[in-house]
Amino acid sequence: MAWKTLDDAALAGKTVLTRVDINVPMEAGRVTDTTRIDKIRPTVEDIIARGGRVVLLAHFDRPKGKVVPEMSLGHVVPALEASLGRKVIFAPDCIGPAAADAIAAASAGDVVLLENTRFHAGEEKNDPALAAEMARLGDIFVNDAFSAAHRAHASTEGLARLLPALAGRLMEAELKALDAALGTPVRPVVAVVGGAKVSTKLDLLGNLVAKVDHLVIGGGMANTFLVAKGIGVGKSLAERDMADTARAILEKATAAGCSVHLPVDVVVAREFKAGAAHEVLPATACPEDAMILDAGPMTVAAIVKVFENSATLIWNGPLGAFEIAPFDAATNAAARSAAALTRDGKLISVAGGGDTVAALNQAGAAADFTFISTAGGAFLEWMEGKELPGVKALMG
Ligand code: 3PG
Repeated sequence: MAWKTLDDAALAGKTVLTRVDINVPMEAGRVTDTTRIDKIRPTVEDIIARGGRVVLLAHFDRPKGKVVPEMSLGHVVPALEASLGRKVIFAPDCIGPAAADAIAAASAGDVVLLENTRFHAGEEKNDPALAAEMARLGDIFVNDAFSAAHRAHASTEGLARLLPALAGRLMEAELKALDAALGTPVRPVVAVVGGAKVSTKLDLLGNLVAKVDHLVIGGGMANTFLVAKGIGVGKSLAERDMADTARAILEKATAAGCSVHLPVDVVVAREFKAGAAHEVLPATACPEDAMILDAGPMTVAAIVKVFENSATLIWNGPLGAFEIAPFDAATNAAARSAAALTRDGKLISVAGGGDTVAALNQAGAAADFTFISTAGGAFLEWMEGKELPGVKALMG
């Protein structure tokens, strides 16, 4: 791999500016899911073990260049201390004397957390002056925030240009897993793409059909593809004005030798609510007054067969309205099959994107996947084949 890691630099006695993504869900000032915090532990521990001083740089939410007290990273300190098992010294600014004083006050083994980088307007503008102020605080830059790598910001891209730059352990793990799934995968490769709208995943679908052997399309966007094939979908969610685009994607897939798998049977209901009366029908037989809310059992069986005949799976988006039972059935069954095949060593499975991780957790399948990305938007942009500026800057 073309980037340097923590193994490639002497960290003893150095102050290591470590960009992390601890943009975690919070309710009433308390962190409700610590996954992203827990995942930075290997990097923090490794830097400390090598004699470095860890100074964390991070954003929280979207304060748009202003100080917004509810978006202070101070709220994250208790969860960070609990997860790391270390004292965290919080600095009320990410530059200047407040930051420098906090760093100077830290004893060996303490972790310094600097205030939300997005409180400065220069962060999102990738202002070189702000990046230079940050660079002044440390000797080495470590980027462990793959999930923020699609942003060319001062603390992700700018800083990497000013200090010796290394990938942290989580960044390394994400890049290796994603390369194994789409860069240089073991074939055949199957991609599952679900979710509500084709329009939000156009680039992604266009990139995937050229790279994978099988593409399973689920969720609301599958309805748009059914419409594109001249099939009526009743009152289902569908982007009828995207039919031409969907047809173009299908043609591109055929030209590239990618088999596209659409639902052959569907679960339909007259109302969108948990436990609504529902029936399973052929995908060609959705009544005018009904809506498709999930893929049917024959579709799931076909998906499982594709999984069984594949070596690598990449998954983004649920197959149905997984938030409400029983319309989570197809997502759950397919996810559990992927988990079992992975457990048996027959499949490399990689998943990412906010909804996807929630769906796989709900199915009880996430723990068995080979890799679950911490990224939302960055995972999508990477699946679109885009170069992520935060990663590119690490390449030198
Ligand atoms: C995320 O939560 O996906 C990252 O932290 C990036 O956040 P952003 O979409 O506000 O840039």
